[in-house]
Amino acid sequence: MSGNTFGVIFRVTTFGESHGPGLGAVIDGCPPGLDLAEADIQDELDRRRPGGHAASTPRREEDRVEILSGVFEGKTTGTPIALLIRNLDIDSSAYEELREVFRPGHGDFTYMKKYGIRDHRGGGRASGRETAARVAAGAVARRILAREGIAVSGCTVELGGIAIETRSEAAAGSNRLRCPDPEAAARMEALLEEARRAGDTLGGIVEVRVTGCPAGLGEPVFDKMDADLAKALMGIGTVKGVEIGAGFQAARLRGSQCNDPLGPGGFGTNRAGGVLAGITTGQEIVIRAACKPIASIALEQDTIDIHGNPKTISVRGRHDACVIPRVIPVCEAMVCLVVADHLLRQKANR
Ligand SMILES: Cc1cc2nc3c(=O)[nH]c(=O)nc-3n(C[C@H](O)[C@H](O)[C@H](O)COP(=O)(O)O)c2cc1C
Repeated sequence: MSGNTFGVIFRVTTFGESHGPGLGAVIDGCPPGLDLAEADIQDELDRRRPGGHAASTPRREEDRVEILSGVFEGKTTGTPIALLIRNLDIDSSAYEELREVFRPGHGDFTYMKKYGIRDHRGGGRASGRETAARVAAGAVARRILAREGIAVSGCTVELGGIAIETRSEAAAGSNRLRCPDPEAAARMEALLEEARRAGDTLGGIVEVRVTGCPAGLGEPVFDKMDADLAKALMGIGTVKGVEIGAGFQAARLRGSQCNDPLGPGGFGTNRAGGVLAGITTGQEIVIRAACKPIASIALEQDTIDIHGNPKTISVRGRHDACVIPRVIPVCEAMVCLVVADHLLRQKANR
């Protein structure tokens, strides 16, 4: 079975390639009567769009979303919502030399092994551009969450090995990395610029928090909230690890240090990250995604061509020096899809 559909009640199917005519999403299972305008979706897409900084790709992606169906006079009708984003700034020339050569770290080798044919232009469906469709669908899910008072927000907590040491929501809103530590943000930007000049790229860690989520969401035993969140984030090309709450650090704690004590007023701490036994506790959900450095680098690397001959490659074309901050709205979108789906599943259960 192919894997282009996500969700149980709020079901999203995405389609399209980086350098094809367009990409988009079909959402089935969105409740009727929800206020929805193209502007709601556009705001989210604008956050994912490249540009505006030396370290981001010079590609001009307009990412204008069109709602083709499922909305009448500004309200969802309960019928499938089709969202289309046309690819307007297509320049495939730089990819011609990749027709027969595999980029290390990208999907070129594995797509060829799996399908025996691949669209080499811009990485085809393995391109980060595919995530525009997820962001569009996530914006619709966010509308469902907003009317229940649930908010989803992401930030950068680490980049190129520089971790935040302080947290200020105001600071996160004031820099393009959405980094809550302004001093760390400045050091991250300097490192990013140095890596870009060297023809290299950097990775980082995105943290997403869900506030206002009621207790009781999640479907044990296979569709636990944490399991579905992990799948959602790991499904983003570039994400190599996911943590919830204390995450990997929990393995280094004693039970007495890891447990969140309970009192009449609720939980004293939130090392569980808002999920116990796969079910939300009513606390903030805290989830982190580790993103690897962008694979397409200008530095020379060893590789092979489709015939197995050794080659060296230096990737030209338009690539970011770091997937952060563009991946933040993508992580938020995937979390919105999971939480909205589980909210609807819980309503269907009761
Ligand atoms: C928003 C976004 C933008 C991306 N931009 C690029 C890019 O410009 N160049 C590149 O090589 N990879 C880029 N990637 C990462 C690749 O899509 C990803 O590494 C590839 O699909 C292989 O998947 P994997 O890293 O999970 O193994 C981007 C990913 C995202 C989410």
